[in-house]
Order: sequence, then structure tokens, then C-alpha cells
Amino acid sequence: WPAKAPLIHAINELKKEKNAVILAHNYMTADIFHCVGDLMGDSLALARMAATSDAEIIVQAGVHFMAETAKIMAPDKTVLIPDTRAGCSLAASITGEDVRRIRAAYPGVPIVTYVNTSAEVKAECDICCTSSNAVQVVESLGSDTVILLPDEYLAKNVAAQTDIRILTWKGSCEVHEQFTAEDVQDLRDAHPGIVIITHPESPLEVVQAADFAGSTAAMADWAKKSGAKQAVLLTECSMSDNVAIDVPEIEFIRPCNLCPHMKRITLENIYDALRLEQHEVIVDEEVAIRARASVQAMLDLPA
Ligand code: 13P
Ligand code: SF4
Repeated sequence: WPAKAPLIHAINELKKEKNAVILAHNYMTADIFHCVGDLMGDSLALARMAATSDAEIIVQAGVHFMAETAKIMAPDKTVLIPDTRAGCSLAASITGEDVRRIRAAYPGVPIVTYVNTSAEVKAECDICCTSSNAVQVVESLGSDTVILLPDEYLAKNVAAQTDIRILTWKGSCEVHEQFTAEDVQDLRDAHPGIVIITHPESPLEVVQAADFAGSTAAMADWAKKSGAKQAVLLTECSMSDNVAIDVPEIEFIRPCNLCPHMKRITLENIYDALRLEQHEVIVDEEVAIRARASVQAMLDLPA
């Protein structure tokens, strides 16, 4: 990235000048992830980092629900999102009003919301979860039925790992819903011995056909420890680029899908967000208080 070196340098200087940190999700392009990110990880790690960071400004290199979660957990900090259009098909699939209707239809049934939702949806739920702790959260509630919103694929994958009855919603991740069990078989046929790693937002058949499924951080850790010569991260494309830099001994085969929302974040708009302190994320205070209770309930579970 030599052509980008001046921009990378300028961003890193601005961070020091403004006491800012960049929280970078694992799906950021490698120039962002490896050259300007301060704290990197999956959604759970990013939520924890936002809650404990002592920077004055947080730039969320990720999508809007992640920036909102950072603001919910760090209400006194300025949280910036470099492109306000960086959404998520899961977050767009459900509103707070939908959750209120569900609660009225299933009185007494605990409602868990995936972190990939708006603050308004988190505010209506009992507890939040991420892909790294969904089974633990569902099992912590002491109920034989739990509503897990809004990802129907994550819900099916959780249901396959617990005796608790899981009710869900019709949301899906537009990146992971596209993978099929056939893709997994084709990869095994084309690359004997390949290790196949996927994410629980994928269909159950894909998860069952793969060697491992977990959050983006768990996927990276598992790849590093697998000792594999060849592996595929059946997920968003930047994951392989980022992990390959850390683990050059693995050859990553690349069927992958781009997330158009994640790809809205660039070095250029990170620089502009920091320089102009623009695109601040604001969450209504009353909503933030209730949403924080949902996220905090999750963070308070044993790690
Ligand atoms: P995690 O990083 O928490 O696994 O989430 C994946 C994802 O799709 C985020 O948008
Ligand atoms: Fe949403 Fe899927 Fe993109 Fe993650 S990868 S932001 S879940 S659409």
C-alpha cells in the first residue's frame, strides 16, 4: 500500500492529536485493519473495548450498529462512523415496534437480541448476544423457550446446540446466507485435506458440513491453531486477507462474499471523519439507557 502511506500516516497523527482510537472489525480491508486500527476484533470484543477505552473520540471502522453499540457503552465519548450508510441486512430486518408486538404475543418469554440490531431494538429486549456467546446467553435465562432475534440462521444454529426451544424472526445476513453445503463439498473435492471454517450466520447445513463455525475472532483463532496447510474462511472476503497477514504459513482459498456495508468504510472517509469530527453517532438517552442494560447483561456473564 505504498501509495496510501501518506494517508495512513496522516490518520495515525490525527489520532494522537485528538486522543482518538479506531475500533476496527475483522471485516475491514487490510489497509484499515493492519495500518490504522488500534483495537481489532469481533462484535463482542469491540463492545467491550468501547466500554473500557479512555480515548475521547472513537472512530468505528465497522457498520452502524457497531458504532451505536460503542455509543451506548461509552455515552460520554464522541463516536464517529466514517460513512453513515454502512448498514446491515440483519439490523434493517426488525424495528423496536416489531419487538413490542412479539413481546405482546409471547408474554413471559425472554427476548434475546443479536448485537446486529439498532439501539431501539436492543432497548426492547432482555439481553443482547453476539455470535461468540449466543448459546451461553440463551442458556443463562432459565427458560425452556427463548426468542432469539432477528437472525433465523443464527437461531437455527443455536437451536442445534441446546435443548431450549428457540423462536426467531425472518432476518438474515446477506453475506452468509449465500453459502451452501454444496460449496463446502465442492471445496473438499477440489482441495483434499482443506480446513473449512464458517460463521453461525450461515445456514445450518453449511455449519454442519464445515470443520468449525464461530465468531470472526473465533474463526481466526481456530485457523491459527489448526495447523492447516490450506484453509477457507467461508465469510466476508477481508477476513482471509487479514488473517493471512498474521498466518502466512496457511494458504487461504478464497470463495468469499463482500459485505457492501462494511466496504463503505475506507481510509479516505476515516481520515475525513477524524479531521472534521463528522458523522457523530447520537442515541436518544432514554433508548440508550435501556439498550445499555441489554448489552451490559451480556457483558456481565462469565467470560
Ligand atoms: P462477529 O464479528 O461478532 O462474529 O460478527 C460478524 C458479523 O457479521 C458482523 O457484522
Ligand atoms: Fe450485516 Fe452480514 Fe454485513 Fe455483518 S456481514 S454487517 S451481518 S450484512
